Amino acid sequence: MDQQILIRVANSTDVHYSITITNEMESSAQARGTGIAKRSPEYVAKKMEEGKAVIAHTEDGTWVGFCYIEAWGHDQFVANSGLIVAPAFRKSGVAKQIKKRIFDLSREKYPTAKIFGLTTGLAVMKINSELGYEPVTYSELTDDEQFWAACVNYDTLMSKERKNCFCTAMLYDPADHYEPEETAEDFKVHSQLYERFMNVKKSRLLKLLKKKNSSQKSILQYFLSL
Ligand SMILES: CC(C)(COP(=O)(O)OP(=O)(O)OC[C@H]1O[C@@H](n2cnc3c(N)ncnc32)[C@H](O)[C@@H]1OP(=O)(O)O)[C@@H](O)C(=O)NCCC(=O)NCCS
Repeated sequence: MDQQILIRVANSTDVHYSITITNEMESSAQARGTGIAKRSPEYVAKKMEEGKAVIAHTEDGTWVGFCYIEAWGHDQFVANSGLIVAPAFRKSGVAKQIKKRIFDLSREKYPTAKIFGLTTGLAVMKINSELGYEPVTYSELTDDEQFWAACVNYDTLMSKERKNCFCTAMLYDPADHYEPEETAEDFKVHSQLYERFMNVKKSRLLKLLKKKNSSQKSILQYFLSL
């Protein structure tokens, strides 16, 4: 792509991008199987109007990418959600730049909040690691029921007593965090392990979903706590 890509905080002049964004969220989620939550165009537009989103587009106005902020648990936690890059612009560092901008915006708007993300993808784990996020268990995230209720795999999540699901949780705690160099190094050292872990988790949970309507759990499922 020759055109310069602009990455900035979204505003009310960007609401016309909302449908394109939510359509891409839906088709990417379908392609991935484990997906990301589909938001309505109205929800996305509201985030833009509130200044709680980052948008990327070319100089001529072609949409390139998006991400938004959600606050949970009385603003004690902030999630940077809905990261999406248009397929034609992937693998050229756009997501990394969007995540950096939304991270900075989150720190400006909610300076004391813990910032977290849930992901099924290695690319996002890598980006988060470079910002200082570390992998955590779900128990370290917000206990705000509304957040968990929005999970696209809610049945699977609840069948695991909210301790496990397809996503890997990552957190940045402004009061107690590693330096980005340290978390990035940790990712470099352990990335193969993380990838294997995510693949194993995904395949076990998909098996569980398939068996959901069958009568009994297998011994193996009990053994694996699935
Ligand atoms: C995931 C997604 C946002 C990545 O966007 P992108 O602009 O291609 O990502 P970047 O180019 O900024 O890549 C960031 C890093 O991840 C790596 N990466 C990108 N895609 C990857 C993949 N599929 N597998 C492993 N690593 C990947 C890149 O090599 C880069 O690492 P580098 O700094 O060493 O070069 C994009 O593929 C997408 O929109 N997917 C569908 C929606 C989705 O999955 N969203 C995430 C929800 S949590």
